[in-house]
Amino acid sequence: MTSKEIRQKYLEFFASKGHTVVPSAPMVIKNDPTLMFTNAGMNQFKDIFLGNSAPKFPRAADSQKCLRVSGKHNDLEAVGHDGRHHTMFEMLGNWSFGDYFKTEAIDWAWELLTEVYKIDRTKLYATVFEGSEEDGTELDTEARAAWLKHLPEDHVLTGNKHDNFWEMGDTGPCGPCSEIHIDLRPDEEIAKIPGSKLVNTDNDEVIEIWNLVFMQYNRLADGHLEPLPAKNIDTGMGFERLCMILQNKKSNYETDVFSGIIGKVGEFSGHKYAEGGDVEVAMRVIADHIRAIAFSIADGQLPSNVKAGYVIRRILRRAVRYGYTFLGFGEPFLCRLVPQLVEDMGEAYPELKAQQKLIENVIREEENAFLRTLDKGIRMLEDNMAKNAATKTVSGVDAFVLYDTYGFPIDLTQLIAEEKGPGVLQRGARQAEGACPQRHRERIRRLDGIPSRRM
Ligand code: ALA
Repeated sequence: MTSKEIRQKYLEFFASKGHTVVPSAPMVIKNDPTLMFTNAGMNQFKDIFLGNSAPKFPRAADSQKCLRVSGKHNDLEAVGHDGRHHTMFEMLGNWSFGDYFKTEAIDWAWELLTEVYKIDRTKLYATVFEGSEEDGTELDTEARAAWLKHLPEDHVLTGNKHDNFWEMGDTGPCGPCSEIHIDLRPDEEIAKIPGSKLVNTDNDEVIEIWNLVFMQYNRLADGHLEPLPAKNIDTGMGFERLCMILQNKKSNYETDVFSGIIGKVGEFSGHKYAEGGDVEVAMRVIADHIRAIAFSIADGQLPSNVKAGYVIRRILRRAVRYGYTFLGFGEPFLCRLVPQLVEDMGEAYPELKAQQKLIENVIREEENAFLRTLDKGIRMLEDNMAKNAATKTVSGVDAFVLYDTYGFPIDLTQLIAEEKGPGVLQRGARQAEGACPQRHRERIRRLDGIPSRRM
């Protein structure tokens, strides 16, 4: 099944169960000071859950563009180094606004996975919330009973608040959840250790597919739970991961979600993904980041030096740096990947197609500006690190000079420094405390992501 078919089948399935299929909300959030980017499908429905606005329909489904690069969920530095982390990803979701509740959500999830996607039911596990004394909540017997209609007892597990109680943030809509996990190991491995022992243990082959949240509380600022005006359903399934499972691949990057882009990177650079090592990492970084950058620009967020714009600039520069260092790109290349991205995703997300020219132009300009400083900056930094070879430290002062005088971003200095030994820059940056004027110290902290109040 192609990724386009997988997405389509999800939406068609929930439409057949009376859901209104809605477009993805923008990935860039303009009207919520607590959130720069959409990080879950339910963000756009927060006010409906809280009872502040009325739902237009009782059931909805969509595929939501999400970005996890800041705040509580931040995967940026891990992206590229394995097959499953992303900055931007798609979350398939279905919602009930005071309409159906646990039983239907569970029955339909089961039907979709096993009858439409035809996943082997013996490989599936479900978890339910064990309850919390602290919050005065109990074992979720309703969800457990619903699962036992489909799964044997040893495939229905209980989980604690960390894994089975989903909260949007410190306050706001929340509720117990039930996760569906799959065991992708070969049968001989399964015979040795049952999957039930590996659920929620960070095993790469026993992984969560879908989170069904029974949204029924509001977490108040004092930590208490108050019931929401209605009982709701909020589900989220990682699309790229689902494609990996259904296409029988070992990594999300081997699916057709990314293969078109990775093919183009190979064509432009003369390298092959199969070379492995840094080449493979760089190709994953680029295939991931081009999506985050292009979709942000399509949503109206241009790269800049502040807030959401700086996050996007940072992602773009990370992609350019990997392309430059490991694939030999000395000229803009990200902008040349946009037509392929539009071909892959323009149908599901028409805004991408509509803004194609703008996206290409903005990216090209950014790439040109950054490439001019990159070559010079990398050489200076390497000289600097050779000078301090004994301590393997880049001092904060040197990092700052690279940034301030040569426009070499601190996060890239940090990236290169980390390749030689983790954390060296932070220590160095802190050593700079006494050496810099106050104005500079503040900027170093900000660029290092160190909140001022902690210093
Ligand atoms: N809101 C839930 C999540 O993001 C579905 O996992």
